[in-house]
Amino acid sequence: MSKPILISGIQPTGRLHIGNYLGALKNFVELQNSGKYKCYFFIADLHSLTESFSPAEKHKQILELAADYIAAGLNPKKSTIFLQSQVSAHAELAWIFETLTSLGELKRMTQFKEKSEKEKERVNAGLLTYPALMASDILLYDAAFVPVGEDQLQHLELARTLARKFNKRFGKTFVEPKPILTESPRVMSITHPKKKMAKSEPSGCLFLDDSPQEIKAKISRAVTDSGSEIKLDPAKKAGISNLLRIYSSLSGERIPMLEKKYTGKNYSEFKRDLAELVADYFSVFRKKKKQLQTTHYQLQTILKSGSAKASQIAEKKTHEVKKKIGIEI
Ligand code: AMP
Ligand code: TRP
Repeated sequence: MSKPILISGIQPTGRLHIGNYLGALKNFVELQNSGKYKCYFFIADLHSLTESFSPAEKHKQILELAADYIAAGLNPKKSTIFLQSQVSAHAELAWIFETLTSLGELKRMTQFKEKSEKEKERVNAGLLTYPALMASDILLYDAAFVPVGEDQLQHLELARTLARKFNKRFGKTFVEPKPILTESPRVMSITHPKKKMAKSEPSGCLFLDDSPQEIKAKISRAVTDSGSEIKLDPAKKAGISNLLRIYSSLSGERIPMLEKKYTGKNYSEFKRDLAELVADYFSVFRKKKKQLQTTHYQLQTILKSGSAKASQIAEKKTHEVKKKIGIEI
């Protein structure tokens, strides 16, 4: 029996934060190392063009994300690691999916509503059709599993709908993918703990390559709640609950154990320990990332060879699709 296929991607839009890590990247590495899946991980550069950018900056962000992937533990010997735009089948199949998707389905997407609200003057059509491209990314490879954070579930649901719709109309072609969530599928901002941690609000993010000093300063400033108890209570104690979850996900200690450990201790002791934990946890990552970024050659080679491999699979699928819908001569 061949292994089930698993795919996921991240947009190259700047430094990764601990939400990206605990919701997605940490799990990518664990799933890869479990040996249970045939894994594809890509850099979603086409998706990232929906937000403002400069060409020089984009180029840097792509290589930075490649360094993040490798420094965190993704391994080109175990997974196919590639750049989305190098595999032209993604954009091609996305177009076909757009013609099968209703405007209403796209306009209902939370991410579209939030982003178009923020960028009122410059709402580009790509922001709207984004989920059709994401469906293409997934369905091209017959992926059965997609590890993502909670904010991507709605998009994944559209991919499932499109797979069903296409199969029903044109015959069995696509696999319906299922999400894989982590125990921290929605890490909250450390300054606004009722909002999710997001790159658009950098002050609320802990970045993976923040220095120990930055981590310490940010965590000591993190918003906590009135009272002094270190206890999980997301409704009443959103700030401390978020920090507890981060602590638990990185240390592997269950939350009840942590609550016990910190009984009678105050917020500042807890925060000091958490800052130390975060700084230590990412120390190897920081070193590896720096080293990988000294030369771009290695990262470029990984992306080129991964993209060539992915193209073979994706092109085969687009041929099949064209045949099924009657546009092949
Ligand atoms: P993006 O940077 O939007 O491409 O997101 C990359 C991955 O990180 C996706 O799987 C997201 O669902 C996940 N992610 C982003 N923000 C968070 C967060 N605050 N908590 C958990 N997962 C997140
Ligand atoms: N939309 C995802 C995000 O913003 C990134 C992404 C693009 C993705 N294509 C994908 C994730 C396919 C999983 C599978 O986080």
